[in-house]
Amino acid sequence: MGLNVSLSIFLMFLALCSAIPNKRKQYTPCKHLVLYFHDIIYNGNNAANATSAIVAAPEGANLTKLTGQFHFGNIVVFDDPITLDNNLRSKPVGRAQGFYIYDTKNTFTSWLGFTFILNSIDHEGTITFAGADPTLQKSRDISIIGGTGDFFMHRGIVTIMTDAFEGEVYFRLRVDIKLHECW
Ligand SMILES: *[C@@H]1O[C@H](CO)[C@@H](O)[C@H](O)[C@H]1NC(C)=O
Ligand SMILES: *[C@@H]1O[C@H](CO)[C@@H](O)[C@H](O)[C@H]1NC(C)=O
Repeated sequence: MGLNVSLSIFLMFLALCSAIPNKRKQYTPCKHLVLYFHDIIYNGNNAANATSAIVAAPEGANLTKLTGQFHFGNIVVFDDPITLDNNLRSKPVGRAQGFYIYDTKNTFTSWLGFTFILNSIDHEGTITFAGADPTLQKSRDISIIGGTGDFFMHRGIVTIMTDAFEGEVYFRLRVDIKLHECW
């Protein structure tokens, strides 16, 4: 009898749980930073100014131009300046270094793997990001998988937005860094 009662209470509890809509919880970050970084792709005649280079492409493609077919198969390595505002000429507070891989055949999506190396008065340390970037979406969430220095053992989510896009040479990303694990 007692077992039956507790079983039915348990079943009622289950039914109640599944009735509650599965809302995404809102979490408050323990640290929050908004930064920008600027990517200038090498196009064959901007060597002095370029901050990134196409290092891989499908057979026969030219490494000074992203391929057609949603750039599928291109890999770009970058060493981009990070700034506090959206001005390419502002004093950098660090470098964004890593790569992106165009890995989707039927739309623009890249896979980002990079680290922010920050060395300003405000922040000293690194933050490492990894994840899929469906570039046509207005804002994209990517995992923050770790950090060092001021960001020792930190993790969180970064919301990336394309802030500017000029031809196939320059783009600027706004990164809204929300750290949910701080030490
Ligand atoms: C790639 O394209 C550039 C500019 O269009 C050209 O100058 C260069 O010779 C090409 N390189 C190859 C390997 O075809
Ligand atoms: C460097 O490239 C950026 C983006 O294309 C451009 O706005 C800027 O004028 C270039 N600077 C020089 C010195 O060429």
